[in-house]
Amino acid sequence: MPQHLKRLIGVFVIFILFFLVMRQVLRPKSFGELGHFRADAIYENTLRPMHYAVADSCTKCHKDIRSDKDLGFHAKLKCEVCHGPALKHATFANKFKNKQLPDSLVLYKPGERKDCAVCHQRNAARIKITFDTINTTMIHQVDIMKHHPVDPKTNAALKCIDCHNPHQP
Ligand code: HEC
Ligand code: HEC
Ligand code: HEC
Ligand code: HEC
Repeated sequence: MPQHLKRLIGVFVIFILFFLVMRQVLRPKSFGELGHFRADAIYENTLRPMHYAVADSCTKCHKDIRSDKDLGFHAKLKCEVCHGPALKHATFANKFKNKQLPDSLVLYKPGERKDCAVCHQRNAARIKITFDTINTTMIHQVDIMKHHPVDPKTNAALKCIDCHNPHQP
């Protein structure tokens, strides 16, 4: 065998050995126990603090809003999509029945135009929907700069919730 081939094979053997050793050293302990991932990752995730309540937990105290919402176009939206994580809110209200919620647990009420625009602003990059093929998982879009932009009396931009009930738009 020519000398240069021997050297090349030698180099390869060294690289492969180096790879095997490093793999052994660097591989996290629980890797591969349950599949091609770290089994510990599951446990670590369960330790993270929870922020969201389950969807139905709001119904207990806000029954009217829930039943309004179930009748309208926003039926499929979960409360916390709009109001933000509310586990602490629900836990506190459950524990201290007639006590005023502390400021930090009063939830955001997304009543500004920008809040609705997050989902409803027409955007060329979004999937196009026409009237005939409405699919409930797709969101109806308006150009909010043109859709009732200004109150003729006060010259101020109307809020979306001046006309649309957010719980039953
Ligand atoms: C144990 C009762 C209870 C539960 C459960 C509960 N809330 Fe409340 N919530 C209250 C009370 C009390 C208030 C303050 C008085 C009011 O406005 O009705 C309030 C107020 C609110 C407000 C208005 C905030 C403000 O500025 O007054 C929002 C929004 C809200 N809750 C959303 C939710 C959502 C979303 C959930 C479910 C994750 C939820 N709540 C679960 C009792 C509860
Ligand atoms: C599309 C977003 C959206 C969703 C989904 C939504 N809300 Fe609201 N919610 C709002 C807005 C906006 C307001 C403020 C209304 C206003 O100021 O007139 C509000 C107000 C409230 C208030 C204050 C009292 C009131 O009637 O104004 C409560 C309580 C509340 N929401 C609870 C809920 C609960 C419970 C759910 C789920 C069943 C829910 N919301 C789902 C947008 C939403
Ligand atoms: C998280 C996304 C989201 C947000 C935020 C949101 N919506 Fe919606 N909206 C939807 C979905 C999903 C539907 C149901 C599909 C549809 O009909 O377009 C819907 C439907 C509607 C409709 C009925 C459209 C139709 O088909 O005639 C109106 C009106 C509406 N929303 C107004 C609002 C207003 C006003 C706000 C702000 C308070 C708001 N939405 C915030 C997702 C959202
Ligand atoms: C002056 C009252 C008024 C205001 C303010 C208003 N809307 Fe509307 N909106 C309507 C009416 C009426 C309709 C139904 C007729 C139509 O399609 O124009 C409608 C329809 C819609 C639809 C359904 C469109 C479709 O293609 O069927 C959406 C989505 C919507 N509005 C979202 C919004 C959002 C988001 C805002 C805030 C930027 C807003 N609206 C502000 C009165 C209003």
